[in-house]
Amino acid sequence: MFNRGRRLRINSAMRDLVRETSISPKDFIYPIFVVEGKNIKNEISTLPGNYHFSIDRLHEVIKEVKACGVRGVILFGIPNEKDCCGSEAFNDNGIVQQAVKKIAELDKDLLIVTDVCMCEYTDHGHCGILKGKDVDNDKTLEYLCKIAISHAKAGAHVVAPSDMMDGRVGAMRKALDSKGYENVAIMSYSAKYCSAFYGPFREAANSAPSFGDRKTYQMDPANLREGLKEVRQDIEEGADMVMVKPALSYLDVVREVKNMVDIPVVAYSVSGEFAMVKAGAKLGLIDEKRITLEMLLSMKRAGADIIITYYALEASKWLKE
Ligand code: PBG
Repeated sequence: MFNRGRRLRINSAMRDLVRETSISPKDFIYPIFVVEGKNIKNEISTLPGNYHFSIDRLHEVIKEVKACGVRGVILFGIPNEKDCCGSEAFNDNGIVQQAVKKIAELDKDLLIVTDVCMCEYTDHGHCGILKGKDVDNDKTLEYLCKIAISHAKAGAHVVAPSDMMDGRVGAMRKALDSKGYENVAIMSYSAKYCSAFYGPFREAANSAPSFGDRKTYQMDPANLREGLKEVRQDIEEGADMVMVKPALSYLDVVREVKNMVDIPVVAYSVSGEFAMVKAGAKLGLIDEKRITLEMLLSMKRAGADIIITYYALEASKWLKE
């Protein structure tokens, strides 16, 4: 006797009824890049279909986000001025702060998440304050707290530290609470690996390190248990959601995190994952729509409650077809 598993696949009604996992626009967060200046909507060459927006044109993308049924955006700012300590990152009138205010005005129902990091704002491109050739962990924490408070003051609902300094979640929680922002949530990039998949983003955000790499703060792609340790630590420090990043090559980490925690798990499907699919599709090698929906589904199946993806808008349209 063998089991006739095919009985449960006989037709689409059966398959619809027995399907274990689903994806919806409500699962997605869409990344938006904001730049200084006026009347700018420039396509990002490494992220086709994604744009650099100036504040005065943000309404175009926010309208689309809403129309697609996507409920959240994560903001990345590209300032004109960079310096050693990323001053523009905690300028209350900085590019991200302006964008937060503008988006809150445009759509009060949208969840606004801000990326808290320094690499787009420092002239050396590292994610913190340098001491010699290394990033000074504890000094950087002071700056991350200033950034988080400044984002919260502008109206961000969630701050998402992506720097990978030790102790940042606890420090930011304390700082936010002390200023009366106890309702601002922390989505921690907890298991963030030192990945080649970030390449297209660094072009988009002009944030590549000018020397060295990020191996002393981002994690070794070989390590699963260490990722779990980072997640546990962030939860102890007060993270409301934890993230695994990248997503596609790290679905084992997503699954293990999901099994371990009782808070929402976020998977960030990063720029390199997006760019590979776009490039393959352009060459006619793959079916972009089917591949993308399968990738997103696999992230959900692995345990992600939320997926940050540059495909958020396109995938939402495909899901409605
Ligand atoms: C900032 C940051 C990065 C990404 C998100 N936040 C770049 C990096 O760590 O170098 C990457 C996102 C992507 O590749 O889509 N630290």
